[in-house]
Amino acid sequence: MQRGQFSSRFGFLMAAAGSAVGLGNIWSFPTNTAESGGGAFVAVYLILTFLLAYPALMAELTIGRHTQSNVVGALDKLANGTASRIAARTVGLGGVITAAMILSFYAIVAGWMLSYLFVPVAQITGLTGVEAWLTSGSPDNPGNWWFFTAIFSALTMLIIMKGIENGIEKWSSRLMPSLLTLLVVLIIYVMTQPGAMTGLQVYLVPNIADINTDLLLNALGQSFFSLSLGVGTMLVYGSYLSKQENLPKLGASLALIDVGIAFTAGLLIIPALFVAQAAGTEIYNEAGSLIAGPDLILQVLPSLFDSMGSIGMIVAFAFFALMSIAALTSSISMLEVPVSYLIEQRGMTRVRATQVAGSLILALSSLIVFNFGALFGLVVDTATVWLQPLLGVGLCIFVGWIWHRNSLIESIAEGAPEVRNSLFMKIWPTYVKFFCPALILLVLAQTVNLF
Ligand code: PHE
Repeated sequence: MQRGQFSSRFGFLMAAAGSAVGLGNIWSFPTNTAESGGGAFVAVYLILTFLLAYPALMAELTIGRHTQSNVVGALDKLANGTASRIAARTVGLGGVITAAMILSFYAIVAGWMLSYLFVPVAQITGLTGVEAWLTSGSPDNPGNWWFFTAIFSALTMLIIMKGIENGIEKWSSRLMPSLLTLLVVLIIYVMTQPGAMTGLQVYLVPNIADINTDLLLNALGQSFFSLSLGVGTMLVYGSYLSKQENLPKLGASLALIDVGIAFTAGLLIIPALFVAQAAGTEIYNEAGSLIAGPDLILQVLPSLFDSMGSIGMIVAFAFFALMSIAALTSSISMLEVPVSYLIEQRGMTRVRATQVAGSLILALSSLIVFNFGALFGLVVDTATVWLQPLLGVGLCIFVGWIWHRNSLIESIAEGAPEVRNSLFMKIWPTYVKFFCPALILLVLAQTVNLF
């Protein structure tokens, strides 16, 4: 069977950056920063992304491009004995299941973004009843949450059904530039408002005293989630990449884009929080720390938009469009993990695989929506705090211990012979073998609150 492939380097970069840049960058990075006292978190996050997440990203891209397979098939091809075959199945299927779990809660949060996107539309058209309904969702009244989760899941499925070039690549290449434009326009606007400079200071000036082990491990988890690591997303995107490409360079660009957009999103959200304060909204909670999470995105920011008068409606629309786009280019990459598995290991057509995986995941989302208090936090934590880093350790072990070192080097050098004598090649293979697994295991000692 003919496998799909990205048609250009730009297409791959847009798709992979689309996967990486998501609610993790625009929601949870600024939120984590606000919770952890500002600049210190930013500094630690930047350092850890390059020390740890970038090498782990390279592990996934390399395995994918070498084996040209979905995550289960890929690890199976690398395995060379009974024990490593069992490990391949465990890590591979673990990745498929974790990707599905992440999508199941991600679609709910993305559904909130979609419903808030329609609020300014309802306001402009004077549909007050609709406006009230759009923001009426809650754990006790989850009807509209479910509705928007289903719409978001359907959008994700429609793109994935179209395949690599016509679905993932085409939509990521359209959506990512609009995302950047919206982000920049919003930042320029917020920066001109009273209060913004106080926010900028809180965001950018690190207070060394804030750095502690909690913050360190929190930043590590954040950078793992943000680069879509551990679940085979980057592996499968790497598998659609031509053997001509220079992997270390592409991986570095990807990490830079992801970090760059997270950092830029912080320039929007944190100053916006202080603009809201200047406009009379309370931005500290009872415990004295900055309001974060859903309260920040769904209450503080909308109340800021409201206080801006009619321009506020346009700003609100732009903001939630930005959030929805970021979520969609990430959710398609999550769905591609089980879909590529069903196509290649279970012999399904792409359409059938998308229907099967998509509806199972929507069923899981529904279960969570209707049992929100009991399940939401549990699924988020299990998938992102435990499974993602654990699977990351598994993938590093495959690259470091199971894959033959010479074959690994040959595979990376394929698109870029100059890499053979580079600093990257001197450090990276040993680095992923020992340091990455050890450091990632440290993450597991810590509970990370992403949302
Ligand atoms: N990186 C995405 C974000 O920042 C989330 C994600 C996790 C995407 C795992 C794919 C796989 O929102």
